[in-house]
Amino acid sequence: MIVAENGQAALKILQQVIPDLIISDINMPRMNGIEFYKAVRKNPALTATPFIFLAANNAPEDIHAGRDLGVEDYITKPIEPRDLVSIVNARLLRVAQVQIAQIGQAYIETVNVLANVIEGRDPYTRSHVERVASYALQMGALLRWSPDAIRNLDFGARLHDIGKIIIPDHVLKKSGPLSESEWELMKQHPEAGAKILDQINHLRGTIPYVLYHHEHWDGTGYPHGLKGKEIPVEGRLLAVVDVYDALTTHRPYHTPRTPEEVMKFLTLKANVYFDPEMVKVFLQVLKQDSLPDSFE
Ligand SMILES: [Fe+2]
Repeated sequence: MIVAENGQAALKILQQVIPDLIISDINMPRMNGIEFYKAVRKNPALTATPFIFLAANNAPEDIHAGRDLGVEDYITKPIEPRDLVSIVNARLLRVAQVQIAQIGQAYIETVNVLANVIEGRDPYTRSHVERVASYALQMGALLRWSPDAIRNLDFGARLHDIGKIIIPDHVLKKSGPLSESEWELMKQHPEAGAKILDQINHLRGTIPYVLYHHEHWDGTGYPHGLKGKEIPVEGRLLAVVDVYDALTTHRPYHTPRTPEEVMKFLTLKANVYFDPEMVKVFLQVLKQDSLPDSFE
């Protein structure tokens, strides 16, 4: 804790130190608290620093003056030391929570930029990522996954095709069937994506989505030909959602099928391509989505 005699002395200290929190009296010699507050907020490095005024109980005009400047935090004197500590702790906790939320937001922005790299190149998959993430999150909620697992699910769903960055445009946008060599290249996108994400510490939890979303329950998928529950649950979940969205939307190689047709297809292929449990959960999500608002 650093204590300053008055506002000017405090400003001098603030040229060297960025504090976690500032507590200032309103009535001070030479520079009053309001002037001090204005000077502090002029410094861009201090705009987010919590600022608490100590105001005398009998000076409501001071509080009004501060409120006009946007000051929200006041402690009226006299105050018990114990109360002061708990107020300061609460403010600092709030600042930490805001910072964590901002870091989380920065992560989401990184993920969206990466995901848009693919969407930007492939006009047919426009909004595919958003829809897949939205369905996947609803499944995660029904499965009661933990907040950490849900975060990876959200990011993983958005990044699942990031490996398509290695596929040249003429293959990615081809409207006819792929040649054998083009298909071999296409099948490399899960491993290519996993390799990219392995280099980003906070996105490593998304790798199971990227790597296993084309595995099939019966072992006929790629890249590893895993079978049944050998396929990590992340891949089993995403496979259902990814195929549903691909089949119900326009692609260069097929016209969109109706949701009913695709739901029938998923049911038919449960135990063949898809984990039957995951198909069940996904059909439940679709059922919820189709309910009128008044039923929710
Ligand atoms: Fe894919």
